[in-house]
Amino acid sequence: MKEQLEKIREEALKQIAASEALEKLNDIRVAYLGKKGELTNLLKGMKDVAPEDRPKVGQMVNDVRAQLESKLEEARVTLAKKAREEQLKKEVIDVTLPAKKNKVGHSHPNTIAREEVERIFIGMGYEVIEGPEVEYDEYNFEKLNIPKGHPARDEQDTFYVNDNILLRSQTSPVQVRTMEKGKLPIRMISPGRVFRSDEVDATHSPSFHQIEGLVIDKNITFADLKGTLAEFAREMFGPETKVKFRPHHFPFTEPSAEVDVSCFKCGGKGCRFCKGSGWIEILGCGMVHPHVLEMCNIDPEEYTGFAFGVGLERIALLKYEIDDMRLLYENDIRFLKQF
Ligand code: DAH
Repeated sequence: MKEQLEKIREEALKQIAASEALEKLNDIRVAYLGKKGELTNLLKGMKDVAPEDRPKVGQMVNDVRAQLESKLEEARVTLAKKAREEQLKKEVIDVTLPAKKNKVGHSHPNTIAREEVERIFIGMGYEVIEGPEVEYDEYNFEKLNIPKGHPARDEQDTFYVNDNILLRSQTSPVQVRTMEKGKLPIRMISPGRVFRSDEVDATHSPSFHQIEGLVIDKNITFADLKGTLAEFAREMFGPETKVKFRPHHFPFTEPSAEVDVSCFKCGGKGCRFCKGSGWIEILGCGMVHPHVLEMCNIDPEEYTGFAFGVGLERIALLKYEIDDMRLLYENDIRFLKQF
């Protein structure tokens, strides 16, 4: 029996030392110390032991049991520690990794530019008014002093819906609509989409945006127009910006002018951006033609006013130094999110 006990002990210790998993230890415990385990079985053989030897044998069995139990516990602690270390190693978090960026919505450069123009004019007491994109010929042309057959119609290759209705080729018809309402004085801007049958290229698109401006009141002069647009240019392109008025012709204004701003890239010295001239054209303007005022039932003897029209894309392209208008319409997120 002593030999048997010794064998069980050695075998059990060997297995405990070799076991690499906690579950394995449990199996060993059951196999040796469990109700039907080897040590328990061995105790059943006590009845064959001489009575005087029983205390000694019993003591030996208890010693083996105690030793196995302590070895099992020792192994359990070691294995549990090892398992925990492995788990920690596996779940390690690298806090220096850059975080994933959340994608959030973003304003289009056109929108940013429009809001900037609106902010400037609202600051000067202007109202923002919208007009329809599908417009009457009468408002888009006739009442702006562009009768049928007028050469200015050819400059704006227009999409017609029928003889009288078209997709507006400019935001100027909103001037007519506002004046016709008969509420004076007027100080308004009108941003919106316009349409022309143009081929797509770096500076053209069949659909683009303009911002119209109109002021009607008593004693409005060209000086008011100059002061207003100079202030706009300074706010939009920086306080150093100079403006230059070049005589021009528009059917609905007299006199008319085109406005250039000093190149905000080179300060007027001349660079690639302003094509060496030091100036960049930004808008058309003029004093509202007396005939236009009459057609809108405003007495030109009593009231005068000025108007202007800005190409929104042009402003956005200039402000953000984008050299191809198509980029504004392709809606490539990688491009748009830079602004
Ligand atoms: N409507 C003109 C265009 O599309 C721009 C313009 C010029 C508007 C002069 C105006 C203005 O109100 O006074 O080319």
